[in-house]
Amino acid sequence: MSRKLLIEHAEVPGIASYETYRKHGGYASVEKALKTMSPDEVVEEVKKSGLRGRGGAGFPTGMKWSFLAKPEGVERHLVCNADESEPGTFKDRYLMEKLPHLLIEGMITSSYALGARRSYIYIRGEFMYVLRILEKAIAEAYANGMLGKNILGSGYDLDLVVTPGGGAYICGEETALLESLEGKRGNPRMKPPFPAVKGLWGNPTVVNNVESIAAVVPIVNEGGEAYAKIGIERSTGTKLISASGNLVRPGVYEIELGLSVEEFIYGDNYCRGIANGKKLKACIPGGSSVPILPHYLVTKTAAGTDRLMTYESLADGGFASGSMLGSGGFIVFDEDQCIVRNTWNFARFYAHESCGQCSPCREGTGWMEKVLYRLEHGTGTLEDISLLEEINKKIEGNTICPLGDAAAWPVAAAIRHFRDEFEWHVKSPQEAQTRNYGLIQAPLEA
Ligand SMILES: Cc1cc2nc3c(=O)[nH]c(=O)nc-3n(C[C@H](O)[C@H](O)[C@H](O)COP(=O)(O)O)c2cc1C
Repeated sequence: MSRKLLIEHAEVPGIASYETYRKHGGYASVEKALKTMSPDEVVEEVKKSGLRGRGGAGFPTGMKWSFLAKPEGVERHLVCNADESEPGTFKDRYLMEKLPHLLIEGMITSSYALGARRSYIYIRGEFMYVLRILEKAIAEAYANGMLGKNILGSGYDLDLVVTPGGGAYICGEETALLESLEGKRGNPRMKPPFPAVKGLWGNPTVVNNVESIAAVVPIVNEGGEAYAKIGIERSTGTKLISASGNLVRPGVYEIELGLSVEEFIYGDNYCRGIANGKKLKACIPGGSSVPILPHYLVTKTAAGTDRLMTYESLADGGFASGSMLGSGGFIVFDEDQCIVRNTWNFARFYAHESCGQCSPCREGTGWMEKVLYRLEHGTGTLEDISLLEEINKKIEGNTICPLGDAAAWPVAAAIRHFRDEFEWHVKSPQEAQTRNYGLIQAPLEA
């Protein structure tokens, strides 16, 4: 069973309170960092840990921190991205709800490393009840000298502000988030300049995911090298996975990276298999934005080896047969689920959430949604399937932010792996209205 570095104490009664959290070793990383380490030493430990951003892209956190510009006399900020609006992803909400002080501890230690004196948690607007939990925990941290002036007598001052998001998926994109935090409409910014140079209020800013910031706590407590020993290759440490769909035991799990995907789906310590004795049809391993994998690419590679829950293994084969670990939103489909319907459903989401700044995304997501509606509702044509592929190519890589890619990739992957099912919707529309297509056969080479 995987070691738990983040959520081991999540179910301890009262752990959301400062007192109980402290009793379970909480705030040790703040004491260690502020009393015995320089900010650069903290950055060095994070670099050594190999931690990669848990918000989706997997960019190395230590490297991101070292890009932060430090002009004399200019304020800098750490902003925690707690917007979590990706369908299938609900790990940050769990962490904040159960362990608000873990995030606050990570914010203090990370802000110290970055030299930030005013940091922010930007939390999804719909998570109002979690915002209240965080506000209470922040007030406790101030009352106990963990925030405010001269923390633990170290001379370091930090103010921490939690603020509700603008109620749109796009506000999770880091530059849209900064716009929203400044009180404007959440439209992504052109890059460069990157936030590390010109971020919040024009000041150098690091934006990190909730889980990335929480992971700094065990990294500082146990050391970067110890953290890097967990996992495989460039996928180090543990990762929170929010598992949903047709599973016996969906939920939030902390896994050691490198666990086999099969073990995660079927293992007793994890999801315990597909619900109701059904068969696995497909899986989206990293949230709605990443390519879907058919069952035969989930459990084993073509060479017969296990696929692993790592950034590298899930991307194996590139976009021809691979996917991404992304935000860890692991969505499982059984044999009764309709891939066309699901693809249409996601397309509806992206069409609704496109901010409308870039025409390929604004027009393309709406167009894809209409074509998928036709296919799902029995009025589509075979040309519609090729049309979707054409629209996809026009969106991908042609927008200011990656929302366009996030809308295009799932459609492209669904057609790539489930073309027969899409064609069946065209050729047998009546039948497709009354029953599901079922499992697809693995090609011989798989
Ligand atoms: C449309 C869109 C939505 C996003 N939503 C989130 C989100 O809710 N939470 C998050 O951490 N990152 C989200 N991201 C990624 C952020 O832009 C950014 O890469 C991330 O916060 C960086 O944190 P990390 O380096 O710790 O992963 C989103 C990106 C896009 C394009």
